[in-house]
Amino acid sequence: MLGGRPDRPQDAASRKDFWEGVHGGTEVDGVSWWQSVPGLSLGLVDETGLGRERPVIDVGAGWSTLVDHLVERGYRDLTAIDLSVSALRTVRERLGPTGAQVVLEVADVLDLAPVKRYALWHDRAVYHFLTEPDERADYLASLDRSLEPGGWLVVATFGPDGPTTCSGLPIVRYSHPELAAQFPGYELVSTAGEDHLTPWGTSQQFTAVLMRRSS
Ligand SMILES: C[S@@+](CC[C@H](N)C(=O)[O-])C[C@H]1O[C@@H](n2cnc3c(N)ncnc32)[C@H](O)[C@@H]1O
Repeated sequence: MLGGRPDRPQDAASRKDFWEGVHGGTEVDGVSWWQSVPGLSLGLVDETGLGRERPVIDVGAGWSTLVDHLVERGYRDLTAIDLSVSALRTVRERLGPTGAQVVLEVADVLDLAPVKRYALWHDRAVYHFLTEPDERADYLASLDRSLEPGGWLVVATFGPDGPTTCSGLPIVRYSHPELAAQFPGYELVSTAGEDHLTPWGTSQQFTAVLMRRSS
């Protein structure tokens, strides 16, 4: 540890330990990214007009309520992955019988071996942790293995005026053009953003893009 900050986890095992520790040490509203309604994400998912039977994956889902809201909207083929067992356990309990069909899987987005192709990939506040080119290349490889041709990509990160760290870790901030440029082979469909209010009332600028994989 340096200056009271955790060392940046650099391999799969230390990443998992780090994120397990984050989720094990607090309540859902004890993390800055908590929101009971993921409005920015839902707006972009709605914009796709995706059929309710199409497969959707939320990567680095943590405690996000995105899957709860997608169940409510009638989506039937939902998967959420995260490194943290305890985060996914909380989501499983929260979803209850109405969300019993949601697949919750402990997996690393940098090394994803999908059992099928998805029609929509959603990521809020995971990509910005990838500060190294090799991590971003691994993420892109996972994305390309997972998303079907013509599939939709929704990614949200901290914006140019957002925080420089998240959960004590350094992050990369993106403008809309910078974020869109991260995904070769994907066409920018629309952009969005929000000033997210943390549970303790501070504001965090988010940048989001909706993109579509070339067919
Ligand atoms: C800042 S939180 C965002 C959570 C959620 N997307 C949301 O918007 O509420 C980042 C999440 O990504 C997960 N995570 C971090 N690195 C990951 C990785 N390499 N693979 C899968 N999940 C990861 C963490 O455990 C954590 O739940």
